[in-house]
Amino acid sequence: MLVTTIKYQMMTGVKGMVYVTRKLSFNAAHKLYNPNWSDERNIEVFGKCANCNWHGHNFELFVTVKGFPNPDTGFVIDLKALRDLVEEKIINKVDHRNLNVDVEFMQGKMASIENLAMSVWDELCPFIPEGELHSVQIYETPRQSVTYYGP
Ligand code: NI
Repeated sequence: MLVTTIKYQMMTGVKGMVYVTRKLSFNAAHKLYNPNWSDERNIEVFGKCANCNWHGHNFELFVTVKGFPNPDTGFVIDLKALRDLVEEKIINKVDHRNLNVDVEFMQGKMASIENLAMSVWDELCPFIPEGELHSVQIYETPRQSVTYYGP
């Protein structure tokens, strides 16, 4: 990677990596509830988020890929290809679904945005066609987000 990077920089004059982000939205239900705890303990820790009849959010997902622009296209990654990938691997599986019940890659995990961001990373990382996955950020509300930079 280092040799490739230096060679690329010498050939193109580009000195730093560029970070490219695609934002996608989805709506989903979830609840935060630890089945090993009493209802009282769940409500104490998770408050309204433990509501047994679920609740929903308008989630916003930001997927960032880093790399050097391809000299032929000027792109780090074709953003349309990135959008199609995220729609196929993530959005189609979570939009209008229940994260706890319907989403295979969330099974057996607490449905927090921390765990969701890590799962989204694992689902996308092997399929990024150009550049390297840099981060997965998820907003659960306009004021609350989580960012995962990978293992
Ligand atoms: Ni919630």
